[in-house]
Amino acid sequence: MAENIKGMKRTHRCAEVTSEDIGREVVVMGWAHKRRDLGGVIFIDLRDRSGVLQVVFNVETDSALHAKAEQIRSEYVLAIKGVLVNRSEDTINPSIKTGKWELVAKELRILSKAATPPVLIEENVETNEAVRLKYRFLDLRRPDMQKNLMLRHKVTKIARDYFDEQGFLEIETPILMKSTPEGARDYLVPSRVHPGKFYALPQSPQIFKQILMVSGYDRYFQIARCFRDEDLRSDRQPEFTQIDLEMSFVDVDDVIAINEGFLKRAFDKVLGIKLDTPFMRLTYKEAMDRFGTDKPDTRFGLELVNLSDIVENSGFKVFSDAVSKGGSVRAINAKGCGFKFARREIDALIEFAKLYGAKGMAWIAVEENGLKSAITKFMSEDEISQIINRMKAEPGDLICFIADDDEIVFDALSHLRMEIAAKLNLIDDSKINLLWVTEFPLLEYDDEEKRWVAKHHPFTSPMDEDIGLLDSEPKRVRAKAYDIVLNGVEIGGGSIRIHDQELQKKMFSIIGLPEEEAQKRFGFLLEAFKYGTPPHGGLAFGLDRLIMLMANRNSIRDVIAFPKVQNASCLMTGAPDSVEIKQLRELHIRTLEAD
Ligand code: AMO
Ligand code: AMP
Repeated sequence: MAENIKGMKRTHRCAEVTSEDIGREVVVMGWAHKRRDLGGVIFIDLRDRSGVLQVVFNVETDSALHAKAEQIRSEYVLAIKGVLVNRSEDTINPSIKTGKWELVAKELRILSKAATPPVLIEENVETNEAVRLKYRFLDLRRPDMQKNLMLRHKVTKIARDYFDEQGFLEIETPILMKSTPEGARDYLVPSRVHPGKFYALPQSPQIFKQILMVSGYDRYFQIARCFRDEDLRSDRQPEFTQIDLEMSFVDVDDVIAINEGFLKRAFDKVLGIKLDTPFMRLTYKEAMDRFGTDKPDTRFGLELVNLSDIVENSGFKVFSDAVSKGGSVRAINAKGCGFKFARREIDALIEFAKLYGAKGMAWIAVEENGLKSAITKFMSEDEISQIINRMKAEPGDLICFIADDDEIVFDALSHLRMEIAAKLNLIDDSKINLLWVTEFPLLEYDDEEKRWVAKHHPFTSPMDEDIGLLDSEPKRVRAKAYDIVLNGVEIGGGSIRIHDQELQKKMFSIIGLPEEEAQKRFGFLLEAFKYGTPPHGGLAFGLDRLIMLMANRNSIRDVIAFPKVQNASCLMTGAPDSVEIKQLRELHIRTLEAD
């Protein structure tokens, strides 16, 4: 039978004992991490979330206790009272925090036995992730997972403290609500009381936080759960967490400054990294031109170079045709790869580029005495030398070209840039690369729906100097929208909102949202805006992504206690699952499966 802790009180977490405790009686409780039986002596590494402490049971000092310790198996839960002593010099383990000491046991209670765990409870194990997620309760015992969740706690706590100090109020907003304007697919919850009607789970608290500004709360923040039914990736979950905030009487620079302050503090307090503020800023246009993406990793070069003007009349039709059709020809200079890459590796790059819609990837390898390329024969001497000049190409370099519509050129080249950087080991993992991308386009054209749509959301304000272009050249209108990018990952985004009713109406009409439809979807917000709206704006950090990067992981699943997998299911609980027919009836729902 399991014993209990009656009369025993834990004095320390396992790894929280210090040299001050030498010679003192200590009570620790935790899981048997490892057991080594050396005949007369049994060593147990007792583990809790702080780490491990070695406990010794010696047959000569207490044979009954030693006999009891023989029953201990992996993951048994134990309470142990003992005296902390120094280990002998030759048994010191410098790789653990408590490696200089051990606990000489005086009392042992077996609080709970454990079946043999199906996953190893070790740091950085390579167990299949599906197995880890099925047995998440065990996986979460692993020291690295515990570190990740403790780091997450710290960052969340710092966020609360920081935004509180800056005068923000934490206010909760509803989970059962009306559909939001964020643009992903909603999760819906059927209403029992209103047959045929549904709540939507919030994709973000966007509308509520704007209403709070109308209501005079001035500075709002929330650690907010958001729900989006979209295709999952390593940095996307159907439910995720934002550090969400909104401020009144501000413009772009104010929102940016407050958030830089938060990141500065979080990196300093949690990782001891001092960030220099202000962070680098790139306009969207510059980010696209130089890196081909709105979330550039600028820890390395390999920047894109536009060659369209040089090749617009090229004899190489792939190039001249792309330019004449309104597209472009751009290239990156993979420094040194002309020598380094075998033909096979260049072919692999071509196939890689095709994954992003490129029809091919032309290339020129610069050699000591000439060029190697399949395309130079179609080009004039002058054209070639201008290209070499602009690319600053030297012997050993490999110039990779993509010709197409801008969208494909940027997509293929930005990914090629990352691929080549990885192959050449150009990314310094110890560097923190934080930057703002600003001046996003307000609108983008939806080819399928044949209309303009808001790139951020329809409440985002155009830049003052571009308002005049709304009717004539919507494509050129820039928004007061900004994203914050960390090592090539978008960790947050926001905007200054429209607070002028006329402008808001105009925005709806440009995106083809009829007045009636706007009233139906956001009528309450438009109504609220009638009664005195302060200029306002805000931002939301993707907390999971921020923590993933701070914890140096590749997937947000590693920083979420109970994440879902690719097909949006939870492998531990089995959600989503079928429910009783009775429950469905109450909700006035008949499923096709049940019919
Ligand atoms: P946005 O849609 O850009 O803005 O979201 C803000 C940040 O949330 C993170 N994020 C996600 N993280 C994990 N899984 C997802 N499925 C997911 N989707 C988004 C990203 C992103 O930068 N209401 C606006 C903010 C504002 O305008 O104030 C909003 O939600 O890191
Ligand atoms: P082709 O004329 O199709 O034989 O292509 C000649 C070279 O140009 C090959 O190396 C192709 O990979 C490359 N190429 C083809 N289409 C493109 C494109 N859109 N952009 C860049 N290179 C291309």
